[in-house]
Amino acid sequence: MSKLLTILPATTQQGLSIITTITNHPTLRSEYTLRGLARNPSSPAAQSLTTELGIEVLPADLNNSSTLPSALTNTHTLILITKTDYSVPDLKHQELTQVQNVISACPSTIKHIIFSSAVPTHPHGREVDVYDSKYAAEEALRGLSPSVKVSVFYPGMFMQNFETFMKPLPDPVPDPEGDGGLVVYNVVDGGKKIPLVDAGRDMGKFVVPILKGDTGVVYAASGVWSFDEVVVIMGRVMGRKVRYVRVEEEVYAGFMPGQMGRKVVDMLRFYDEVGYYGGDEEGKVRETLRLVEGVRGFEEFVGEKLVNLV
Ligand SMILES: NC(=O)c1ccc[n+]([C@@H]2O[C@H](COP(=O)([O-])OP(=O)(O)OC[C@H]3O[C@@H](n4cnc5c(N)ncnc54)[C@H](OP(=O)(O)O)[C@@H]3O)[C@@H](O)[C@H]2O)c1
Repeated sequence: MSKLLTILPATTQQGLSIITTITNHPTLRSEYTLRGLARNPSSPAAQSLTTELGIEVLPADLNNSSTLPSALTNTHTLILITKTDYSVPDLKHQELTQVQNVISACPSTIKHIIFSSAVPTHPHGREVDVYDSKYAAEEALRGLSPSVKVSVFYPGMFMQNFETFMKPLPDPVPDPEGDGGLVVYNVVDGGKKIPLVDAGRDMGKFVVPILKGDTGVVYAASGVWSFDEVVVIMGRVMGRKVRYVRVEEEVYAGFMPGQMGRKVVDMLRFYDEVGYYGGDEEGKVRETLRLVEGVRGFEEFVGEKLVNLV
């Protein structure tokens, strides 16, 4: 009999990618029946899951514990993604509370929770709220019950960030011969390699080996690239002059509203000084890629998503 697999929240980039992958997978699509959860099941994103893929979507809000018990009823496998909200004063507490809300609402039918987590920073003497909230949540899930298996995937940095807050900007230095160059700004050493993932297209492919029982830990990235390499690829694919400029942390933080800049800079300092996955990023990603098929690299992402963006 098909097992009920619930995705919370279903309308995230990660959730949508996971749903698309499972519904197209030759064996998983019959092994599992999917249920999506969203704050508003009548939103266009939630509605398209129902009309295009025939998936039931029920209401659930990670921050509202009363919505969760009925939404999780009969679930066998739960794929859980937290929402980082930079606008609340204590985002770390809020993200951990989201998972505690889920733990309190888990029905006895749950046998497997697959969590989108982050590696621990404390073994490196660091505090990084956006990471620490997820790792604390991972530990809380592991303490839930011996009868509930907990698997994790650690998403790399989303390539989609280059469409939003890491987007290449017009170069203030004029280029009289070209159509104007572009600059990618960040605080990380230009040579430091960072794992990247096309979260919207590929996250589901990284969850497949977990669902097939091949592993319980996945480093979800299709490779590692430095900012120096990122701008070379952008320049080649976009046919523009693109350069990387490393700026002071306070300057970079000032590009973002409220506390977001400071929180993001704390995280970027961890990438720079310790490593996105706490070290050996290349080795961890290589091991995962042995289990994963069909993910795409940064070059393909730039060709599809960034050429018309700027
Ligand atoms: N950006 C990166 O490089 C990166 C890297 C690693 C990890 N992450 C982590 O990835 C997570 C975000 O994932 P994502 O980008 O896939 O998400 P996303 O697309 O930004 O999520 C947006 C969706 O979340 C849903 N949502 C918002 N608040 C909710 C709530 N209280 N309860 C239920 N659903 C809620 C909304 O759906 P509805 O309105 O339909 O409910 C909305 O469509 C964060 O935890 C972030 O820290 C990001």
